[in-house]
Amino acid sequence: MADYSATPFVGKTFGVTLDKLNKSFDRLAVLKNVSLEVRPGEIFVIMGPSGSGKSVLLKHVAGLEQPTSGRVLIGDHDASDPKTRERVHLALVFQAGALFNSLTAYDNLALYPREHRLCNEAGIRERVMRALQILSLEKAADKFPGELSGGMRKRVAIARALVMEPELLLYDEPTSELDPVMSATIAEIIATMRDHTAVTSIVVSHDRDLALGIADRMAVLMDGRIRAIGKPAEFRQTTDPAIANFLNPTIDLKHPRFRQLENDYE
Ligand SMILES: Nc1ncnc2c1ncn2[C@@H]1O[C@H](COP(=O)(O)OP(=O)(O)OP(=O)(O)O)[C@@H](O)[C@H]1O
Ligand SMILES: [Mg+2]
Repeated sequence: MADYSATPFVGKTFGVTLDKLNKSFDRLAVLKNVSLEVRPGEIFVIMGPSGSGKSVLLKHVAGLEQPTSGRVLIGDHDASDPKTRERVHLALVFQAGALFNSLTAYDNLALYPREHRLCNEAGIRERVMRALQILSLEKAADKFPGELSGGMRKRVAIARALVMEPELLLYDEPTSELDPVMSATIAEIIATMRDHTAVTSIVVSHDRDLALGIADRMAVLMDGRIRAIGKPAEFRQTTDPAIANFLNPTIDLKHPRFRQLENDYE
């Protein structure tokens, strides 16, 4: 088979700007005055506790949620404007993968280029095989999602995003439910994808090793607010106890956290 892995995709790269973004659902304020700038070509990781608003933030970049106030720009384009999706090739790798179970891995990948008539079947085959090869999935091409392990399904979901030749790649928890080795593999894949494509990548994750290992810069979101933004090295040396505790939680059987929670309710 031809070696496609050396052929870089060429596309535009976009920066992403969140400018005083606020989002409430009814009375629940989920994002509170979030401002940050993701530079073109950067891998930017957003960490934060469960429920802190990470997925909601990412959906704003993807144009799937509208801000209550403030705005999100992709380059100069407003993310909430439907026309932006025509101007920016954006791919979102969902938290749960979201593959079609009745289609093989190959057909899952071929779906988008077929539906959008991006090229003829030979061209589609080249794109799909290139993506499968980058993710070491050639042998999974004819398998249905139900026949694949969780880790392989995650890789197929990433390969499907790659086939869209994105200029902006958004990942929601790409390593959740994976073993440590597979998580490290996915982190390497995200870094490799960026090296192949120079694509701007925003990764939402709980995975400290992934963040510290591949982020150019990262942010920690707590209770809907940005608690800190910086390079991984700066987070390793943080003096903020909330961030230190989030990145390096210790198991303290003498003072267990759930007892603390009980006290909070009293
Ligand atoms: N469509 C919605 N309607 C109402 N509330 C929502 C909606 N989407 C999210 N929320 C609420 O917003 C808050 C943040 O949710 P979000 O999914 O962004 O958390 P998260 O940081 O991604 O958590 P996790 O790490 O568990 O995935 C939660 O309280 C959630 O219940
Ligand atoms: Mg989430």
